[in-house]
Amino acid sequence: MDTEFDFDRVIDRRGTDATKYAELDEKFGRSDLLPLWIADMDFATPKPIIYALQDCLKKSILGYTTAPDAFWNSIVNWLDRRHNWTISRQSIDFVPGVKKGLGLCFNYFTRPGDKIVIQPPVYHSFKSVIEGNGRRVINNPLRFDGKSYSMDFEGLRKIIAEEKPAMMIVCNPHNPIGIQWDRATLQQVVDICYDNGILLLSDEIYGDMVFDRHSHIPTASISDKAAEITITLGAPSKTFNIPGIATAWTAVVSPKLRDGFFNWLKASEFDTPTIGAIYATIAAYNNCAPWLDSVLAYLAQNADFATRYIADNIPALTTVYPKAGFGLWIGFHKLRLGHDRLADLLINNAQIAVSDGITFGNEGSEFVRLNIGVPRSVLKEALDRIAAAVKSI
Ligand SMILES: Cc1ncc(COP(=O)(O)O)c(C=O)c1O
Repeated sequence: MDTEFDFDRVIDRRGTDATKYAELDEKFGRSDLLPLWIADMDFATPKPIIYALQDCLKKSILGYTTAPDAFWNSIVNWLDRRHNWTISRQSIDFVPGVKKGLGLCFNYFTRPGDKIVIQPPVYHSFKSVIEGNGRRVINNPLRFDGKSYSMDFEGLRKIIAEEKPAMMIVCNPHNPIGIQWDRATLQQVVDICYDNGILLLSDEIYGDMVFDRHSHIPTASISDKAAEITITLGAPSKTFNIPGIATAWTAVVSPKLRDGFFNWLKASEFDTPTIGAIYATIAAYNNCAPWLDSVLAYLAQNADFATRYIADNIPALTTVYPKAGFGLWIGFHKLRLGHDRLADLLINNAQIAVSDGITFGNEGSEFVRLNIGVPRSVLKEALDRIAAAVKSI
């Protein structure tokens, strides 16, 4: 156990309106499940953030508040320090969440009916936000060789020629599988998009959560071409376990792309953080790196523990070892249960709520994403339940 940060401590979130409990019944048809689905962690939010919010509440008036330079500097300096990505303050703007940022980008950079390429199995909201805003999804599924996933460039070139998409989204690192894309892969995506006049939207919400802490490669940093066509979305929300505070940023290095976009955000004040977002973000980026380093070490140990447990006790399942984040992608396909029987087994036999792989795309049928951002005792309980359920078949 870490002495400074106690990630083994089980914190009871029932009765706190935590979504993982509040929406159990609606999403899974019963409320008595061990919840390991929605992507926040069961670890206490770092103390510097809590103290910053407590300090904020000492003001007697929670009036209109202008984000100080310290807010913008905290983001720019973090990207520089943590990811070696040096960009100007002018390249950054606030957005009130990454998912909301996706919708804003689709509305500003594309037109109704435009096509946007995604690479399933991937974060389910890409599809719903694209379609909900009247744009069309073009799928370029990842390739799975039974052990690991890679991008299908042949398929990408083909659909670009046939469908003429306006935009492509790269999830870097990739949720739900925890893939950390290497430089050569990102380079190839950038070059294909650049050569075909396609804007690249890089969702880097998990960029801070790569286990090997300095090795995240921001897509826009790859080359001049990348900087010219990439719109990046990121946030301290997953990183520091504060997704309840709507705070995120967009980085657009190209003045040609960003000037109109940032003015458009400003017109409706989408670019204005709330008072809590301001102080939480400054505290997170300036004072919580030690917490993050510790949590990443704990998550890597959880990934080791879970993959070893499954190999030893439930060898019919397939795991893809994550390089980032706190989802473990588990394949049940060798059991040949089919999607519905698997869902029933996990909900009604194992009594756990995990993210159904099919929500990330049809390719995810018979897979699940298990949230391993939990104390190890809870993770073991979940794995014990899965093992017993599989044994009962
Ligand atoms: C890849 C990805 N992007 C965006 C989001 C949502 O971010 P936010 O809570 O800032 O809207 C998630 C949440 O799970 C995610 O996995």
